[in-house]
Amino acid sequence: MAKQLTVLGIESSCDDTAAAVVRHTPGSSPEILSQVVVSQDELHKNFGGVVPEIAARAHTEKLDYCVADAFNEAAINLPDLDAIAVTSGPGLIGGVLSGVMCAKGLSAAANKPLIGVNHLAGHALTPRLTNQIEFPYLMLLVSGGHCQFLIVHDVDRFQRLGGTIDDAPGEAFDKTARLLGLGQPGGPHVEAAALKGDPARFRFPRPLLDRPDCDMSFSGLKTALLRAREAILAKKGGLTRKDQADLAAGFQQAVTAVLLEKSRRALKIYLELNPVKPVFAVAGGVSANQDIRAALETVCAESGVDFIAPPLSLCTDNGAMIAWAGLERYRRGLIDDLSLSARPRWPLDQTSPAMLGSGKKGAKA
Ligand code: KG4
Ligand code: ZN
Repeated sequence: MAKQLTVLGIESSCDDTAAAVVRHTPGSSPEILSQVVVSQDELHKNFGGVVPEIAARAHTEKLDYCVADAFNEAAINLPDLDAIAVTSGPGLIGGVLSGVMCAKGLSAAANKPLIGVNHLAGHALTPRLTNQIEFPYLMLLVSGGHCQFLIVHDVDRFQRLGGTIDDAPGEAFDKTARLLGLGQPGGPHVEAAALKGDPARFRFPRPLLDRPDCDMSFSGLKTALLRAREAILAKKGGLTRKDQADLAAGFQQAVTAVLLEKSRRALKIYLELNPVKPVFAVAGGVSANQDIRAALETVCAESGVDFIAPPLSLCTDNGAMIAWAGLERYRRGLIDDLSLSARPRWPLDQTSPAMLGSGKKGAKA
């Protein structure tokens, strides 16, 4: 008989320092006992992206406090845990190392099992934390650092159907916001501007739709936007509110169109597996976008597939997803020891070709 498990999760692979405690009693829904996230947005905002050195330093300073707060909020202490889970990659190596060292210290001090979790697996397993769905399900990870379609077959088996060959959509939203003179992070600002714009005024490219696979590209879209903006500047010397809104609307419509069509293709491949209760889930900050969400819901409705979008606090980087993925691994006996290493690159699907691409938020996998 499986027993109740209480797991601490630590996340520090990018620019959020996070810790959370998750408890699961077999037969009932998992509970998030605490959830602490300390953002580094302020520290990086003047640099146009995350500065790895600054991020690593800030993680080292904040981790102990985050873990202490997570214990307090959950009203538990180290001896009450069954295991300690930590993001051991992929990500900015300084941050990942900080988290792994912190987790090792706790594990050694309290003699508790240590579990290394792939950050992307944390995102990909979140719908099981929030909705207790069964394998296999289709997942679209779409954020400032990631963009890929995965069939989640099991806790440790992921099939990558395709993804971006260059930038992630969140990066493109952020760059667009910069070009239009809007605030950061760009996604919500571009979305708000787009609401007032005419998406038909500028026709931006829909990259790679001519290819039958599930791969995507967003860097050309950024360039197209830059050109359109330059043309307006050359003619009028500046952007009006209307120009800003129309450019935002045209850009968002192009991103949505690409995600919609590629989701349709990914769903087709997934449905060939004949899942009993087909599910398409999203994770990542860009999934907050209402236009994109509505498009994905439409594609799911077309093929009778349930659409799941976890609450935004669990879609963006957080400790609960790492605690949950660790808990799932623990139940399968997938436990590490103090030799656990930090990995800057770590593709979820080892059989698919490595993806190139920079990504303002660090190494892609
Ligand atoms: O998942 P996340 O918090 O962090 C990582 O990238 O790991 O995602 C952040 C990204 C940013 O690029 C942000 O601009 C984008 O998600 N984003 C959005 C929206 N809200 C956040 N993009 C489009 N529409 C939104 N409403
Ligand atoms: Zn992430």
